[in-house]
Amino acid sequence: MASSSSFRATSTLSLLLLLLFFVGSSSATLSTDFYSKSCPKLDSTVKSVVKSAISKEKRMGASLLRLFFHDCFVNGCDGSILLDDTSSFTGEKHANPNRNSARGFDVIDDIKTAVEKVCPGVVSCADIIATAARDSVVTLGGPSWNVKLGRRDSKTASQSAANNGIPPPTSSLSNLISKFKAVGLSTKEMVVLSGAHTIGQARCTSFRAHIYNDSNIASSFAKTRQEKCPKTSGSGDNNLAPLDLQTPTSFDNNYFKNLIKQKGLLHSDQELLNGGSTDSIVKSYSSNPSTFESDFTSAMIKMGDISPLTGSNGQIRKNCRKVN
Ligand code: HEM
Ligand SMILES: *[C@@H]1O[C@H](CO)[C@@H](O)[C@H](O)[C@H]1NC(C)=O
Repeated sequence: MASSSSFRATSTLSLLLLLLFFVGSSSATLSTDFYSKSCPKLDSTVKSVVKSAISKEKRMGASLLRLFFHDCFVNGCDGSILLDDTSSFTGEKHANPNRNSARGFDVIDDIKTAVEKVCPGVVSCADIIATAARDSVVTLGGPSWNVKLGRRDSKTASQSAANNGIPPPTSSLSNLISKFKAVGLSTKEMVVLSGAHTIGQARCTSFRAHIYNDSNIASSFAKTRQEKCPKTSGSGDNNLAPLDLQTPTSFDNNYFKNLIKQKGLLHSDQELLNGGSTDSIVKSYSSNPSTFESDFTSAMIKMGDISPLTGSNGQIRKNCRKVN
């Protein structure tokens, strides 16, 4: 009698634990085959829109890659960066790191429209950003990886979290390290992910102080950049220069080679090779493109794991720009 009731109690308990385990794991884990049944055409659909956007403008690949970073660093990869401001809602688009700078929102809309056509109401905007980032890297000649999926979209956004979480280009090495550590990314992952600056452009206002005031910059390079970036703040603020002076539309390891020649465009870029603890990591990526590629893909996957909304949290937005 006593033993059978204790048996019942134990088996009920273990059933409960088993249930908790499954509920817990299904709501906390992303997987590469998340949409394999519900949206088998997802990959091909995203890829074709990304390819056509990049064929119109090569820089778009860089802009889409950056959206993923700016989404993930602000309360996780939850599509929060895509929400438009309204009279009653302040999103992240006008936070300091994004204002006059983040771009690619129209391309995300185009992808969402194409994806909704093949599988309506199924795929999150957060997963679209993650997939578009991978396809951008591949289209510009970089490595590929299997994107983990199953994120859901936020119902909120946070301008202050965007201002606090995304490091500015004036950052010191220790600030860069701590901002990445705050989301669970190591110093080495910070360095390898910075290799994303092998593509894309920056505005004069982001690098003015570095080219006029810093001493850890090749003087010929500083002079060249000064030609299109006037010293006085307010003039030419939006003039663009390539983050990688050699091949700004190819995903390669030239970013690290530039740092060795003191030709990093941003103050924060050159901090990675400025006599500190990350010098050796930069040197190894500059001479070993395949290590750069494999470490970059692992770190992108890890960045994509930053506190996603899963299970019944969040929602699948119909329009990436607004909450349902
Ligand atoms: C390590 C800290 C980082 C800092 C301080 C930083 C800062 C910046 C700044 C200031 C710009 C130029 C923005 C402008 O002037 O409009 C930029 C552009 C860019 N960033 Fe970063 N970034 C960092 C890390 C990353 C990471 C981790 C990624 C992606 C994995 C990334 C991808 C990009 C790309 C691709 C661009 C060019 C975007 C375009 O051309 O539209 N950055 N970043
Ligand atoms: C350079 O530094 C000086 C002194 O801190 C500052 O007044 C000036 O605005 C800086 N110039 C630029 C272009 O950042």
